[in-house]
Amino acid sequence: MAFIGKAPGRVNLIGEHIDYNGGMVLPAALSIGLKVKLTPRRDDTMTIAANDYPEIATRQMDECVSGHWSDTALGALRQARALGMIAGGADLAVRSTIPQGSGLSSSAALIVAVLKAARAAGNTALTDTALAVEARAVENGFMGVPCGIMDQMAVALAEPGTAMALNTATLSYALLGLPRTHAVMVVHSGLTRKLTDGRYGARKAECDRAKAYFGTDDLCRLTPGEIAASALEEPARKRALHCASEHRRVLDAVAALKADDMATLGRAMNESHVSMRDHFEMSLPAIDALVTDALTLGADGARLTGGGFGGCIVAIIDHQRQSRWLAELLSRHPAARFIGAA
Ligand code: GLA
Repeated sequence: MAFIGKAPGRVNLIGEHIDYNGGMVLPAALSIGLKVKLTPRRDDTMTIAANDYPEIATRQMDECVSGHWSDTALGALRQARALGMIAGGADLAVRSTIPQGSGLSSSAALIVAVLKAARAAGNTALTDTALAVEARAVENGFMGVPCGIMDQMAVALAEPGTAMALNTATLSYALLGLPRTHAVMVVHSGLTRKLTDGRYGARKAECDRAKAYFGTDDLCRLTPGEIAASALEEPARKRALHCASEHRRVLDAVAALKADDMATLGRAMNESHVSMRDHFEMSLPAIDALVTDALTLGADGARLTGGGFGGCIVAIIDHQRQSRWLAELLSRHPAARFIGAA
């Protein structure tokens, strides 16, 4: 018998690199997504067929990370077995419309979808929040990616068309409607990256230095003023400044989204991009140029989204100007491509 698990891709409206620093984040679920069909097996074998790859991969359940594309699914399935959801291995069939390496949470969606399918197979009582925590454990423990909890929570709990105001310190959240007057547009820069390439981990280590200096796990609860006035060495000081100011921008953005105040939401997004560029140093010149043109062409807000160093920008643009804006932006940036609207 086969069991189905589904998860959407996500775009982060605002709140970057603060989900492992106790901050608020505001991701939204996309209409692109991923579906897993899981058929339990009695032996210790996993097979996986995925539309992104030509061959079917076969792995043993006791294998470790090998650098193969099937590692992520293997990690998820091993976690499902450790949780008692399945007794042996499984055959997996994956259909995904989420581009990989683009900052749209393709790997979180795969892990969450495998765990949801396995949860159905095992008839296991595990809340979606607990499942998201287990999905993050696969990234941190098995894959060696030191990510936070934002992506897993967003893809496990948010439905397409909703944003999630998530407190990453407590995991409490509220689901909010997306803007009515504006489209949330996701445009790929054409540059891809991997969270395992070291730069994500380097930023996390710099934040950890700031946490040790201030003696707190919640970098975002410090004020930008006390960080600026501190003797913390660079670049940790700049990284901490980004975190504390980004957290405050998310609070403003959540209030603006609730009030349908696109000017304030846009301003928070724009300031977020500047902080990511100058304080967190996670942008690239080609992405800065895409953001600048997105604004020049009429968006109310635009910023790099996701882990950084490549991937997508997110912009909010009045519905009436949306198609012209997109056509002009893509004509100025031939390497860029439209992913979709949230
Ligand atoms: C990746 C990680 C998240 C988060 C973002 C940056 O998507 O998986 O946990 O840290 O980068 O905001």
